Amino acid sequence: MPLHRAAPAPPDDDAGVEIRPQFAQAGETGIVPKLRLPDGELAAETAYQVVHDELLLDGHARLNLATFVTTWMEPQARVLIDECLDKNMIDKDEYPQTAELERRCVNMLAALWGSESTGGDATGCSTTGSSEACMLGGLALKWRWRERRRAAGKATDRPNLVMGANVQVCWEKFCRYWDVDPRLVPVSPEATHLTAEGAASHCDENTIGVVAILGSTFDGSYEPVAEIAAALDALQARSGLDVPLHVDAASGGFVAPFLDPDLAWDFRLARVQSINASGHKYGLVYPGVGWAVWRDKEALPADLIFDVDYLGGQMPTFALNFSRGGAQVVAQYYNLIRLGREGYRRVQQASRETAMWLAGEIGKLGEYRLLSDGGELPVFAFAVADEACGFSVYDVSEKLRIRGWIVPAYPMPTGMEDVSVLRVCVRNGFSRDLASIFLEDLKLATERLRHRAEGPPPDAVRASFHH
Ligand SMILES: Cc1ncc(COP(=O)(O)O)c(C=O)c1O
Repeated sequence: MPLHRAAPAPPDDDAGVEIRPQFAQAGETGIVPKLRLPDGELAAETAYQVVHDELLLDGHARLNLATFVTTWMEPQARVLIDECLDKNMIDKDEYPQTAELERRCVNMLAALWGSESTGGDATGCSTTGSSEACMLGGLALKWRWRERRRAAGKATDRPNLVMGANVQVCWEKFCRYWDVDPRLVPVSPEATHLTAEGAASHCDENTIGVVAILGSTFDGSYEPVAEIAAALDALQARSGLDVPLHVDAASGGFVAPFLDPDLAWDFRLARVQSINASGHKYGLVYPGVGWAVWRDKEALPADLIFDVDYLGGQMPTFALNFSRGGAQVVAQYYNLIRLGREGYRRVQQASRETAMWLAGEIGKLGEYRLLSDGGELPVFAFAVADEACGFSVYDVSEKLRIRGWIVPAYPMPTGMEDVSVLRVCVRNGFSRDLASIFLEDLKLATERLRHRAEGPPPDAVRASFHH
């Protein structure tokens, strides 16, 4: 008997917003309201099935080429995550070993990023992701700027932050939440991200810092961090302005050290004061873990650190969240010791090769123009080659969705807003085999869109479509 027959009629305010499972076991007779707390209980298996079924409508994470975030981990990592799901990262006194693994990760990453603090005393912390880490990096820049200005007896009411118009939205959030004027340097078809000249020319005495991105969320390209640092050195020599640099290495922090070891983008550059990276992107951990690391203790103002007397322990904390899961930090440590330099290099190299192969093949189709080729982050963006071809990247994105592929289409930032692109993030687990299936699906989608743009096919051809 259908369950809903036995159920009472829903109250009016719930019309259209109730869940009516069609399961037939005893006890599965209720209507579950969607927007208010149910009065009664459900059997665990019924509740599971209701939630599970609704989630069938989510996209498939492994086919989600929109995300930089990890969608595959080894089974052993999953076991560790499961074992640690009940641990709160903030309870450092109660879970001292989880805290110790976090400390080891911070030190490994600081060393990987060229820090001289290699004796176990690196300054940094885990976060929920790069967004929180960027907030912390930005706050440290703002505090230090304010200290310098106060010491010089100057006004502190108009701080600004210089960055490319291609920054990830978290930086605009940082500026809005913490009252900092965002100075977004427009991009151009010649440089789709911040340039050295653009960065230096936008700085003034109220600039708390410059953010350089490794690499850009829009097309995966690395910003020229060393050139930006050199331009800021020259600015200081010319004008006395000493503008610190934060590197948003959300993705590149776990790619460049392994694939481009000679590229100096990190603490090897004296101007770089802090770096953030997402453990849950190319750090290869499920969401959400990020990392913020400072060059040294001086780069992180002491009055941003809270010494919390908590459950019998003294605990210095510097984060926006208090409670947070510890499992991802443990999983990060697992990856670091499991893969080591060689393992990370192998994984990222495979992703880069797949990205470059796929970008090359898409370039050869003739219908698309590449903005990047996957040779920096294993990420690339492409636009339709001929704006007058009769279909847009938005149409392509929608067509690919039929096969389950999730590929975002969006306009480029200020300076290139008339160009819309599709972006593909190649990650661990997106094999060459999957990439070649994706390519075939893209070819088919393109062909169909071209036919549609050219008008209905002649009758004979149309008939053949139905067979
Ligand atoms: C360059 C950059 N910075 C920051 C972020 C935000 O990172 P998260 O999603 O880890 O908070 C992203 C996310 O894509 C990014 O690409």
